[in-house]
Amino acid sequence: MSIAKKEYKRITTKSLVDMKANGEKIAMLTAYDFSMAKIVDGAGIDVILVGDSASNVMAGHETTLPITLDQMIYHATSVVRAINRSLVVVDLPFGSYQSDPKEALRSAIRIMKESGAHAVKLEGGKEVKDSIKRILHAGIPVMGHLGLTPQSIYKFGTYTVRAREEHEAEKLKSDAKMLEKMGCFAVVLEKVPAELAREVAESISIPVIGIGAGNGVDGQVLVIHDMLGMTHEFNPRFLRRYADLHAEMTKAFQNYRDDVKNQDFPSEEEQY
Ligand code: KIV
Repeated sequence: MSIAKKEYKRITTKSLVDMKANGEKIAMLTAYDFSMAKIVDGAGIDVILVGDSASNVMAGHETTLPITLDQMIYHATSVVRAINRSLVVVDLPFGSYQSDPKEALRSAIRIMKESGAHAVKLEGGKEVKDSIKRILHAGIPVMGHLGLTPQSIYKFGTYTVRAREEHEAEKLKSDAKMLEKMGCFAVVLEKVPAELAREVAESISIPVIGIGAGNGVDGQVLVIHDMLGMTHEFNPRFLRRYADLHAEMTKAFQNYRDDVKNQDFPSEEEQY
């Protein structure tokens, strides 16, 4: 049984706004390479985010700060080659859009031109308004990202839930309104109280995609390595694991090692 309300041959930014209007939830996952993106696209995931979480899960950095624009373009290019249906959104990495709007536009243009992706995502509200404006004016779709914004981790000092305090919740609500008004096509809300996220989703017409933001929003996103159970030491409350690939892969590698050591592999049938 299909749970999609309408079949979309290709997901566009407009399809996502339609999904929200029709009450259909949006499914988004990260991917950073060709093989994974091919599976994600084939499984009917609406949006693939080439997230700067690649800095953590692909490169092993502690934060998302070190990944470069060239590295993001490399990941995005590999993902775009794999897709038939999903919308591909690429994170503008730390340092590629904060200092001035012209640089932000140059970075967004490089992503769109060199990778063939469909949209960019960037973190922040009013602070990066001019950069967002410039990118949108060039015809590049922008997804916002509010709440816990990992590129500002050294300002926050911790990965705990954001916007519990009234003043921060008010700022988040006004930033979300601003992003809608400016013409962003969607906004990610990360690690904020579920009630606040619901209120934001109900107050704007563009989709709100949550991660650790409860079920009152218009869609969900997870980091693919986390939901597949590859990062078993990472256990936030919002994470649901749909597989235990850490265990599965460890078993496979151990079996392979044993077969090689015992000279069980390759067998007669597996040689020429
Ligand atoms: O980089 C990323 O994976 C993200 C998601 C957590 C939304 O921004």
